[in-house]
Amino acid sequence: MNLATRYLGLPLRSPFVVGASPLCDDAPLARQLQDAGAGAVVMRSLFEEQLEPPAAASGNLGLGFPEYADYQFSPDHYLRQLDLLKEQLTIPVIASLNGHQPGAWTEFAVCLERAGADAIELNFYQVVTNPAIAADQVETEMLRTVAEIADAVHIPVAVKLSPFHSSVAQLAVALELAGAAGIVVFNRFFQPDVDPDTLEARPVLHLSEPSELLLRLRWLAILSPQVRGSLAVSGGVHSAADAAKALLTGAHAVQVVSVVLRHGPPVLQTLLRGLEIWMREQGFADLADFRGRLNLARCRDSSAFERANYIRTLQSM
Ligand SMILES: Cc1cc2nc3c(=O)[nH]c(=O)nc-3n(C[C@H](O)[C@H](O)[C@H](O)COP(=O)(O)O)c2cc1C
Repeated sequence: MNLATRYLGLPLRSPFVVGASPLCDDAPLARQLQDAGAGAVVMRSLFEEQLEPPAAASGNLGLGFPEYADYQFSPDHYLRQLDLLKEQLTIPVIASLNGHQPGAWTEFAVCLERAGADAIELNFYQVVTNPAIAADQVETEMLRTVAEIADAVHIPVAVKLSPFHSSVAQLAVALELAGAAGIVVFNRFFQPDVDPDTLEARPVLHLSEPSELLLRLRWLAILSPQVRGSLAVSGGVHSAADAAKALLTGAHAVQVVSVVLRHGPPVLQTLLRGLEIWMREQGFADLADFRGRLNLARCRDSSAFERANYIRTLQSM
């Protein structure tokens, strides 16, 4: 049974990639993830606000950003942790930068490459609240940032994309043209809640649910025939069947975070074993035998992923 895959041009022995999270803050824990079968790991993000003076980075000084010392990793600490992970692990280590506009923080990508990162994942977490900012302005800045970073480093750059763009497929193709080697589908927004007793808004961090995978499956299926680079799923993979679905719709790699936070590193063995059992039952010997089989170009009823299905579903009730 061959579970090897290529992601961002990197050969991975398994499609399961431990996604950006605190799971790699501790090198011995990262070793356990590797021993349990992870194909690669992504470090937690380093934020633009840590790499530039907040006023210059965001104009949002005083709007609730953490104080410098409150971030888990300073930039120096981040580089030391990357160095340590590279020393301890044989699987690829992907660094993560989180920001939203070109600037000095993008230069840090070069430091990450020098410290041994095998790839960089860019997270464009952005909540645009200013009505004067148009959609194309947001996307032009993203493309400029990707081009700037992809030009500055020789390692592959992936973009963790938000699903909240008007034309996700167009943007994904444009990101590739700007130099992205892959797209992570999707960024997961943490939604603040509102407390009706204290009359305050409060941040909440919920781990994901399997139902969140459906949005990702649709877009993997749509993007898979359109992009030439890699696709990874992130969000809602909790079982081997979930992983099989993501691979069938076109993912090269399957990122997992919540399921590992809930059950610990051994869950990776369970996911790998479950995927092998499913492949055996279906008569597949290699991931390449079925990757993308249910993408928009190859599945028997592509309308399932399109508007037609929305109408059919509503009319069936
Ligand atoms: C505790 C925690 C910390 C996270 N930190 C980051 C981060 O630093 N950068 C990032 O891009 N995503 C971060 N994420 C998001 C995950 O990488 C992932 O996209 C999300 O949890 C959805 O995947 P899942 O369903 O497998 O959990 C974090 C998620 C959790 C739960």
